[in-house]
Amino acid sequence: MATTLIKGGTVVSSTGRTEADILIDGEKVVALISPGTTPLGTIEADTVVDATGKYVIPGGIDAHTHFELPFGGTEASDTFETGTRAAAWGGTTTVVDFAVQTTGTKVEDGLAKWHAKAEGNCAIDYGFHQILGGVDEDSLKAMDRFVDEGITSYKMFMAYPGVFYSDDGQILRAMQKAADLGLLTMMHAENGPAIDVLAAQLVEAGKTTPYYHGIARAWQMEEEATHRAIMLGNLTGAPLYVVHVSAKQAVEQLAWARDKGQNVFGETCPQYLYLSLEEQLGASSKEWGDFEGAKWVCSTPLRSREEGHQDHMWQALRTNDLQMVSTDHCPFCMKGQKELGKEEFRKIPNGIGSVEHRMDLMYQGVVTGEITLERWVELTSTTPARMFGMYGAKGVVAPGADGDIVVYDPKGHTSISAKSHHMNMDHSAWEGFEIDGHVDTVLSRGKVIIDKGEYLGAKGDGKFVKRGLSQYLV
Ligand code: URP
Ligand code: ZN
Ligand code: ZN
Repeated sequence: MATTLIKGGTVVSSTGRTEADILIDGEKVVALISPGTTPLGTIEADTVVDATGKYVIPGGIDAHTHFELPFGGTEASDTFETGTRAAAWGGTTTVVDFAVQTTGTKVEDGLAKWHAKAEGNCAIDYGFHQILGGVDEDSLKAMDRFVDEGITSYKMFMAYPGVFYSDDGQILRAMQKAADLGLLTMMHAENGPAIDVLAAQLVEAGKTTPYYHGIARAWQMEEEATHRAIMLGNLTGAPLYVVHVSAKQAVEQLAWARDKGQNVFGETCPQYLYLSLEEQLGASSKEWGDFEGAKWVCSTPLRSREEGHQDHMWQALRTNDLQMVSTDHCPFCMKGQKELGKEEFRKIPNGIGSVEHRMDLMYQGVVTGEITLERWVELTSTTPARMFGMYGAKGVVAPGADGDIVVYDPKGHTSISAKSHHMNMDHSAWEGFEIDGHVDTVLSRGKVIIDKGEYLGAKGDGKFVKRGLSQYLV
């Protein structure tokens, strides 16, 4: 088997950093070698990657992506091929996407469809969560097979009535089952029926621009739903993971439940750390006028900076009130997709594309002092691996782990722009962002797939990861 030596770098884990060379044999890491400790002289390898002056970290794990998601009358614009390749460019070596069951369809059919979309097309390894678009006898029965299929987490929606929505009774039944099976329940925690009324009232009053998407999806709707999900988790004993948390009041709910020892976790996303409702209100361009703000329409929505949500998200990442950062990558082009909602915001497909930029955007948080280098690794790789049952193979650089490794140059620079990104999008939600760091080299199971600005991988390199139960429960 081919060997690879990553030489001269600083290996950063969630708990510390050390100078070491890394030897990979085939797909697996076989040794970490401290300088001056090779008794038999120099180690030879088929490929040598020079990491001098650079950080060597476990490959990023983005546990929340939506490739090819049918949504809002269109389909997310990244395929598994384009999306996983873009992820690789940005130092992410595993994604967990959401297989979809919509109301009235069979869970098995949705899962089979997702396997067919992904198999043979991915640049990096991938797993699936299962979306339950409706909880009935059939879907409850289907849950029995999830663990055997390596799908150990599933998502329900308290929002989007008529599309993905489950009512409290349905959620209760699924959580009872999840508690028995050891599945992690992922929740889109927004009060959908109330939001729909607010949105209709705004449109009726002529308030139709993208900004009003965020007004309709008020933070009270997120706090209330988060609390309800927590209480249903408390009653049933089901571990709960709240996705795309953006309101500081929702974080307070999570912290309250965690302080009582409940298995309750939350992720936020780069958009809730960096972008705001005020900027969305002010967004305007020659081409789109005030519809420019549509590029930032996502759910949960961007929050007010004046109200302090963004600062609170950073704080929660430091204190572990939030445990992870995922992207909720759900890209739509402005032309032909977002513009479906030009007349009114309810018709704008919800979603932002960030799968390529998560590692860089979070590294910028290290540069600005929001988080430590070790916390960067923990939030973007180690905890996602533990939370979703992949730790050991993923999320760590250690003998026996997969050779999923990123060489990150802290002296490098990355300018984010739609002109240079690799996602299949005609705009970037991150246009003009400057990052004081750069992804230099990316290895996926021992194969160098990105090196110095070149993509060396191929579609089909990425394999399905059968995940175990969560390794993060208290
Ligand atoms: O705006 C979003 N988040 N789109 C993707 C669907 C979801 O709710 O995660
Ligand atoms: Zn969601
Ligand atoms: Zn999502």
